[in-house]
Amino acid sequence: MDIENEIDLATQRALLDKVHRHTGIHMAERKWTLLQGRLRRRLQTLALSRYRDYLAVLEAQPDEVGAFINLVTTNETSFFRTPRIWDHLWQQLLPEWFRQHRGATLQLWSAAASTGEEAYSMAMMCEEFREHHPAFKYQILATDIASQVLAVGKAGHYQGKSIDGLKRSKPAWLAKYFQAGEDGYTVSPALRSHVVFREHHLHKRLDGALRFDITLLRNVLIYFDEPGQCGVLENVRRAMSPNSVLIIGESESLTRLNVGFDFEQPLIYRRQERMHA
Ligand SMILES: C[S@@+](CC[C@H](N)C(=O)[O-])C[C@H]1O[C@@H](n2cnc3c(N)ncnc32)[C@H](O)[C@@H]1O
Repeated sequence: MDIENEIDLATQRALLDKVHRHTGIHMAERKWTLLQGRLRRRLQTLALSRYRDYLAVLEAQPDEVGAFINLVTTNETSFFRTPRIWDHLWQQLLPEWFRQHRGATLQLWSAAASTGEEAYSMAMMCEEFREHHPAFKYQILATDIASQVLAVGKAGHYQGKSIDGLKRSKPAWLAKYFQAGEDGYTVSPALRSHVVFREHHLHKRLDGALRFDITLLRNVLIYFDEPGQCGVLENVRRAMSPNSVLIIGESESLTRLNVGFDFEQPLIYRRQERMHA
């Protein structure tokens, strides 16, 4: 089936608007070509030739929203992305938390987890820390808005670029924490048991009473406009424990936003216990 190439402006705007409505992601009009490319496959699958017909499907069928979210999100990630934050976690954050919270369980949150590499990187580092400190306990929550990437994380099965990166950065940990198979590597059940994957929209409050000591909110704020970033940070802050740590991505900064976090060092922020007026 041939898919139309000339799309009227009203349909373009309506679809860009749907991205914002369902994910909070702000896509300017110049991003239309990107969105068009991503939706093309879906039109093919549904045997639709016009984007305005797809818009009608999206509006009429609530089940379509999940597929739409899977297509419009950017899910790039890798194991131990940005080495300096992992060095900081190992050298400072884990020892500091353990000294101050004997007997407690460290709660970590990968708040835009994508396919789970970030959460399993945390788990491997925590396992290594536990070898030196057998009393250390931890749990990891991995959340994302997109169901497809979460399914990959839940399965814990990786191949290609993801594994190539881990082979380069931590070959001994790949051998220790993964089982090699014919078509890739699967996270060992012991490591897997420390990570819970759950769908969560960052523009909503996280339910449950858990409070997180270390939150990774990395490479996701960039997709939101400023009011969206403030709303997300307010929600995330509410789910964090007193004096806890927030880690963001390299192209993100909180310095212009008055959202209740103190700068500690690049990419690392501490939850303020009293919000400045
Ligand atoms: C580029 S990935 C970042 C993955 C990982 N944090 C990292 O830094 O490698 C961004 C992730 O944010 C998720 N995301 C986008 N909007 C979201 C929202 N409103 N709520 C929760 N997750 C969202 C996307 O589905 C995607 O998996």
